[in-house]
Amino acid sequence: MEQPKPGRTRRLIEEWLPIAEIGIESVRERTPMTPFPAPNRLHVWWARRPLVASRAAILASLLPADADRAKFLHMVGIHGDPVAAKVRIAEATRQGVRLGKVAYGYSRAFSYSPDAEDRNWLRKARAVAEFEDEVTVLDPTAGGGSIPFEAARLGLNTIANDLNPVAWLILKATVEFPAKHGRKLLARYEQLGAEFRRRAVERLAAFYPPEPKPDCVPDGYLWARTISCPYCGGLVPLSPNWRLDSKGTGVRLVPQPEDPERRYCTFEIVTKAKDHSAGTVKAGDGLCPFPDCGRVIDGDEVKGQS
Ligand SMILES: C[S@@+](CC[C@H](N)C(=O)[O-])C[C@H]1O[C@@H](n2cnc3c(N)ncnc32)[C@H](O)[C@@H]1O
Ligand SMILES: [Zn+2]
Repeated sequence: MEQPKPGRTRRLIEEWLPIAEIGIESVRERTPMTPFPAPNRLHVWWARRPLVASRAAILASLLPADADRAKFLHMVGIHGDPVAAKVRIAEATRQGVRLGKVAYGYSRAFSYSPDAEDRNWLRKARAVAEFEDEVTVLDPTAGGGSIPFEAARLGLNTIANDLNPVAWLILKATVEFPAKHGRKLLARYEQLGAEFRRRAVERLAAFYPPEPKPDCVPDGYLWARTISCPYCGGLVPLSPNWRLDSKGTGVRLVPQPEDPERRYCTFEIVTKAKDHSAGTVKAGDGLCPFPDCGRVIDGDEVKGQS
């Protein structure tokens, strides 16, 4: 084991890091169907590190090797035993039982923000001999900002840098603005968000079908490329099949052939595979779905129109 240099305290991360616990919490952080951490919801970033791992790395780099490990876990937000919980979940799953959200017995680690008492403890406990009063965490390649976000939550002076202008803006909005403006930022964010939405709806509403009721919120939209059938002029949505899931849900095209000027398809969602429409493209050739036409559209024609 490498000996610490004279005058340099050995740090916790050099002796111990609860990798299994941090690993499980990192996966929990990204559990589908649960709210992702705020930075992920503010803006996507492709290599953003889990917050829990970032916080653990910063903390364990500052604390001396003999720091209180229970307090470390508490500050990281691990307020139970995720390894034991994982075993319980696996056992229950084997018996066909879903334990759901409560399986861990505590909230996901990232959702815990260190409080004033935690930050005080850190100030006292970190490897004081080497640090002046203030510690500054510098992340020169900060990307989506997990490290500076957590450094700021730990109450440390924080500097983030990135050469990518998108990352730069994300860092401003995720780390700097909340630290500078506090809760005032929320009202402004909501105001700008509402205005953005108003303008977007104004420009985009025409491209989406109206919902049957005001409280209907669609899960998503499926887009298909379209070509005009060279024989009947109908608008043909192209898809090799109309399957939506493996259980039988799919799409039945409903051609609207009456108006010769505007022949198009609406669609219905059906629950049995036998009710799906036939695919409208196969090996490059198209197939016109209008029953009064139904002709094969040559691949060169499809490519030409594309
Ligand atoms: C893997 S990402 C960092 C991810 C980050 N730790 C997070 O959790 O989101 C690496 C970042 O380094 C930035 N980068 C690469 N070379 C750089 C340079 N010379 N100066 C500043 N930033 C750089 C990239 O733009 C990218 O955002
Ligand atoms: Zn046709």
